[in-house]
Amino acid sequence: MIIKQNVSLLAYNTFKIDATAKVLAIIENLPDLETLCNPPYSTIFPRLFMGGGSNLLFTHNYEGIIVHSQIKGIEKVFESESETWLKAGSGIIWDDFVAYCVKLGLGGVENLSDIPGCVGSAPVQNIGAYGMEAKDTIVEVQCHNLATNETLVLKNSECQFGYRDSIFKTPGFRNCFITHVTFCLKKQYEAVSHYGTIEQELEKFADRSVRSVRRAVINIRRNKLPPAELGSAGSFFKNPVVGNEKYAALLENYPEMPVYKLTEGEYKIPAAWLIEKAGLKGIKHNNAGTYIKQPLVIVNYGKASGKEIADFSYFIRQKVYEQFKIMLEPEVNFV
Ligand code: EPU
Repeated sequence: MIIKQNVSLLAYNTFKIDATAKVLAIIENLPDLETLCNPPYSTIFPRLFMGGGSNLLFTHNYEGIIVHSQIKGIEKVFESESETWLKAGSGIIWDDFVAYCVKLGLGGVENLSDIPGCVGSAPVQNIGAYGMEAKDTIVEVQCHNLATNETLVLKNSECQFGYRDSIFKTPGFRNCFITHVTFCLKKQYEAVSHYGTIEQELEKFADRSVRSVRRAVINIRRNKLPPAELGSAGSFFKNPVVGNEKYAALLENYPEMPVYKLTEGEYKIPAAWLIEKAGLKGIKHNNAGTYIKQPLVIVNYGKASGKEIADFSYFIRQKVYEQFKIMLEPEVNFV
């Protein structure tokens, strides 16, 4: 285990916020986690588990211990004529895992190409993009409970997956550090291309292989999302879901409003559209702004502090609320 004290978190969060952590523990294996269950580490609080730091906003220095996974390794745990199950360490960079699967010609995660973060964050957020979610491929999640020093394995059905949500976000799992995730990948494969411009982009390729889908997704993302040099955490807000009454009222005023019907009585409205319609696309307050090509993404244009980004996000929420009476909910976690 690597322990660092009073360390800058600049290299550990994609928002590029220069906060510090009192203690940073870098975990490489299960014995490292067992060490953390004993003094002096077990007495340091508060405690934060951090993957790729791609969904966090540090609004102040962290006065406790941050536990960061560097657990690597991919193991084939099951194979049949149609499926391969891979068990991956939580510290593997998510896109490296996707690239690994694509190289083997396995389908199931290619639409999730180029998403920042690590394997261990995928189930927490139930990451999703272009008609695919991590939950569609996850078989089980292994974690270590630092309060009890026990390993537990949750089957997919026990993970309570929802839109950018899972049991791992609930207080009962506060002490559970994800060590491995097992995925079921498909050998026989059909491109998932119904979402947005995937089909259009895919037509530029000679075939519909997993490799082509990955390239298509990367092309679309690189065209719309900020480059890694700019600090951001991807989508800052969740897409809000409204009921029948609210939907009807919005439609009356904005007949052109895009919408995804989830169920009878549940409509998902793109937050990007609400922000753009409120005149907030591409705006900048000092070093914080909404990205010009995708306003759902808040960008750190320079050396913004976490507080500056947080204040800017409150401004966006307030403006959207004034116009639509919808309060956007952050997807990013404030620390
Ligand atoms: N839109 C606008 N203006 C814009 C951009 C988009 O009005 O400038 C509207 C359009 O109507 C568009 C709709 O918003 O059709 C949806 O836009 P997009 O397809 O870009 O997706 P999103 O709903 O804004 C979600 C995820 C992204 C994911 C994309 C693609 C959330 C919170 N975000 O964004 O995930 O990449 O779909 O599947 O669900 C992330 O979570 O960090 C992330 C980037």
